[in-house]
Amino acid sequence: SLIVPSVQELAKQSITKIPPRYVQHHHHPASDDAPTASMPVIDLHCLFAEPCGSLAYSFELNKLHTASKEWGFFQVINHGISESLLEDFKREIMNFFKLPMEEKLKLWQEEDNHEGFGQLFVVSEEQKLDWSDMFYITTLPHNLRKSQLFQKLPIILREKLEAYSMEMKRLAVAILGQMAKALGMDTEEMSELFQDGVQSVRMNYYPPCPQPEVALGFSPHSDADALTILYQLNETAGLQIRKDGKWVTIKPRADALIVNIGDILEIVSNGVYKSVEHRAIVNSNNERMSVATFYSPNMGTELGPARSLVAEHHVAHFRRVPIDEYFKEFFARKLDGKSYLDFMKLE
Ligand code: SIN
Ligand code: FE2
Repeated sequence: SLIVPSVQELAKQSITKIPPRYVQHHHHPASDDAPTASMPVIDLHCLFAEPCGSLAYSFELNKLHTASKEWGFFQVINHGISESLLEDFKREIMNFFKLPMEEKLKLWQEEDNHEGFGQLFVVSEEQKLDWSDMFYITTLPHNLRKSQLFQKLPIILREKLEAYSMEMKRLAVAILGQMAKALGMDTEEMSELFQDGVQSVRMNYYPPCPQPEVALGFSPHSDADALTILYQLNETAGLQIRKDGKWVTIKPRADALIVNIGDILEIVSNGVYKSVEHRAIVNSNNERMSVATFYSPNMGTELGPARSLVAEHHVAHFRRVPIDEYFKEFFARKLDGKSYLDFMKLE
């Protein structure tokens, strides 16, 4: 990808108009004017601690299933991630984005490597840019982690990231296990696919923007991975999802994490679960920060609909490709809705 300047630095200059590269074609309501929607809330205590088959368990599993089919998104509460870890991680990320530019430059993306500080999916000098900076790193499995880059992170951030990464893996695998049950998929097939999955973490910083109605913090896209867990660090709203054709704003809830279905899980579920388009908008007053943790199948697996589901549905809705090929293709493009998923579709 191409190297672009820091938006955080740009926003520090008191400009009233943003440079043309950040002006998107579509005008859209700023966060205060867009309709808000309440995304389903799943109480994970009922899934992880209630005995299978109990009434509370069946009720919550059904909510999970319906949300995954109809929203592609849900919030989780009682997720079991310790409050102190969440607080510590948040503080370290906030400090990280406050580092002076000289320090950040040591962590900036290099040509041919999308990990580090910068922007992803920048493939041309002409394309529109997002009003945000981000830091992206592959965290698991350990042998895929770029230790050169990881070792350059501030030590406490590194410790918290390591702990958070393990917790997010555990949570993702647990949720996927419940989804297998809800889908009627062979639970062994699900756990084999994800036991040593690839995880990456993306920290987002959205500075205040003098023209929020023409800029976007994060262009519309669906996630390429299987399951994304989003931690919103402050109460400023920014995430919008496309619900029944309309962009709706999701109000952050302090005790919840947001979980969404990525393209890979839409494929694995043979189209039962939906990977839904979303984007982030910005506003003129407040900065916003978030962390997205992406979880994908083990390296070397073949991506395609679960065999146990194809047997049950009597039809496969997606083709099969080696997972490595899928990701190579994904990172070579500008994000554009769900175009890559369409390529995988079988009619
Ligand atoms: C995303 O990860 O796609 C959105 C991130 C955010 O809401 O900040
Ligand atoms: Fe996303």
